[in-house]
Amino acid sequence: MNDLIEKNLFLLIPLIIVAVSFGGAVEIIPLMSQRVVQEPIEGLEPLSPVELEGRDVYIREGCNNCHSQKVRPLRAEVERYGHYSVSGELVYNHPHLWGSKRTGPDLARVGGLYSDEWHFEHLRDPRAVVPTSNMPAYPWLFEREIRTDITPRKLRALQRIGVPYSDEDIAGAAEAVEGVTEAEALVAYLQQLGTLIQERR
Ligand code: HEC
Repeated sequence: MNDLIEKNLFLLIPLIIVAVSFGGAVEIIPLMSQRVVQEPIEGLEPLSPVELEGRDVYIREGCNNCHSQKVRPLRAEVERYGHYSVSGELVYNHPHLWGSKRTGPDLARVGGLYSDEWHFEHLRDPRAVVPTSNMPAYPWLFEREIRTDITPRKLRALQRIGVPYSDEDIAGAAEAVEGVTEAEALVAYLQQLGTLIQERR
């Protein structure tokens, strides 16, 4: 039987598809009905307009190409980064930024680890604070301000897919980001990462 399947692609390919789909289904379908993976943990709030814009700067600049945002439940990771990530703290993340590439450290719990000033210095010139760093500098973030006209639309889009922004949040969003530089928004975003479960002060 084995011989027959392994030598016949028309049998092997469909059977591989069946086996892989079954394996996937067994893992994924039960998760869909588990409340623990869908429900926000206590105290979870959607990102403020400034933090949300900071998150978009993070994505635009490709920070996620070098930094993951998920602490795995392994001892070495938990000792280095803090409590492992839980799905309930990430339910408002669209798109999620878990990643798997770690040229730099995981940032899932970087909130509170450094001062705002440290982050500004680090973004302007990483080598000024970490001499061996190979992280690129992002000086232009200090010269550019957040575009106020699209922020409300971003909140509205997230509201539609279930992030609990109120209509007042959306109405006040443009004003909230008025005059904020991209660097300030990015640091505001970084400073809240993971703090609901564990602040790394
Ligand atoms: C080319 C890869 C690369 C990119 C892109 C990158 N980083 Fe880094 N990052 C690193 C490395 C390497 C380190 C460790 C050395 C250091 O602290 O500078 C680091 C460190 C950090 C730290 C300190 C983390 C800690 O726990 O000490 C923060 C915060 C950070 N990066 C934020 C960012 C942000 C925000 C962006 C996007 C604007 C970004 N990084 C883009 C490679 C990168």
